[in-house]
Amino acid sequence: MYKSVFTKHIDKRIKIVKNKSALQTSYLPEVLPHRSREIDSIATIIASAFEGDRPSNILIFGKTGTGKTAVMKFIGNELKKEDPSGNTCAYIYINCEIVDTRYSTLQNIGNQLIMDFEKRIPFTGWSIDKVYAEMKNIIDEQNKVFIVVLDEVDRLVDKSGDDVLYHLSKINEDLKYSKLSLVGITNYLKFTEFLDPRVKSRLGEEKILFHPYDAQQLGDILRARASIAFEEGVLEEGVIPLCAAMSAQEMGDARRALNLLRVAAEIAERSGDTSVAEAHVRSAKNKIEMDTISETVKTLTSQSKTVLTAIIYHSKENKTLTTGDVYSKYNELCKILGIPVLTQRRITDLISELDMLGIVHARVRSFGKAGRTKEIELSIPQEICDMLADDEAMKALKTYKPPSQTTLFK
Ligand SMILES: Nc1ncnc2c1ncn2[C@@H]1O[C@H](COP(=O)(O)OP(=O)(O)O)[C@@H](O)[C@H]1O
Ligand SMILES: [Mg+2]
Repeated sequence: MYKSVFTKHIDKRIKIVKNKSALQTSYLPEVLPHRSREIDSIATIIASAFEGDRPSNILIFGKTGTGKTAVMKFIGNELKKEDPSGNTCAYIYINCEIVDTRYSTLQNIGNQLIMDFEKRIPFTGWSIDKVYAEMKNIIDEQNKVFIVVLDEVDRLVDKSGDDVLYHLSKINEDLKYSKLSLVGITNYLKFTEFLDPRVKSRLGEEKILFHPYDAQQLGDILRARASIAFEEGVLEEGVIPLCAAMSAQEMGDARRALNLLRVAAEIAERSGDTSVAEAHVRSAKNKIEMDTISETVKTLTSQSKTVLTAIIYHSKENKTLTTGDVYSKYNELCKILGIPVLTQRRITDLISELDMLGIVHARVRSFGKAGRTKEIELSIPQEICDMLADDEAMKALKTYKPPSQTTLFK
């Protein structure tokens, strides 16, 4: 029975994921296995807010996917449970990946507290001093303890310096009634090395490190999520241990582990299977890797894409490739593409960058007196090479026809 082009696909697809959102990384679970120690350490510090004291500032370190954001959001919810009216304590969360300037940080903190839309701090136009003064007044008026979480705080410092941290960390000197504590979260273990020493000591009054998860811990996290996401029996036995083992081997990153499980379930669903098997996990891993490489290649600059194209061109010849080989082909391609030709030295740097990104593999070889050179090998699959050939920046190469040979004899 024909209804629309979608009908047959909808009917054919057997839904094996009961609750998709539970596998999304933005989902905040009610329990966070293997983080009770970290939650407890943070809670002991913040608890002093309920005795009217200013909790110490906290700096949370840990690699990506170790649950830092999830834990701080969990703490935010717990604060609301303890103080439903919000009379004692206010929780303000800022994602510095999005809010990354001095102005927007102060404005954002202020506006989270201003309910009257008319009175909000405008997006631009005020002086920094005025924004700071306004934000400080609103905070002080409310007479309570503020917990200000700056997630991915290194982004803010990268983009706008540590000035705003300096002012926020000494704001208590200007406050009469309220108190403010900062919780900075960062993936970079060396974050504080680049801070002004005063900011460093104020922000790092307490430091908490989140360790990567091991395979067993990832397995527990996945099992907790899977029980919400899937009906019983949908996951074959080896699936969670495999996802956990693969992700533990990489970084101990719970985000990757969850993604792997989600993509595996999507693959199973799309191929009309009724359960998720280890084979689906393997395809998922492959797909995620391919997506990552293709994203990396897509976002290269035109110059790097040209260098990579030169390497791909040569790699078909099956000989050892040197920087010189790449450079001469690169020169030729630049002329066809109509882009500036960089020096060989710059190209050597770009090749090293491609090496760091895992797109090519470059080895330095020395030949005694003859000097040193790099041997370059491609480390991406054919699909990605094909994708690059279709890239907007490389399009001119496809339509290019070498000028017809001028013949000497007519
Ligand atoms: N202990 C845990 N229990 C359950 N889910 C977790 C746990 N740790 C991390 N997650 C989940 O893994 C994903 C990544 O965690 P996140 O807190 O964003 O990591 P980080 O901020 O350290 O990069 C999120 O979806 C989060 O809910
Ligand atoms: Mg985070």
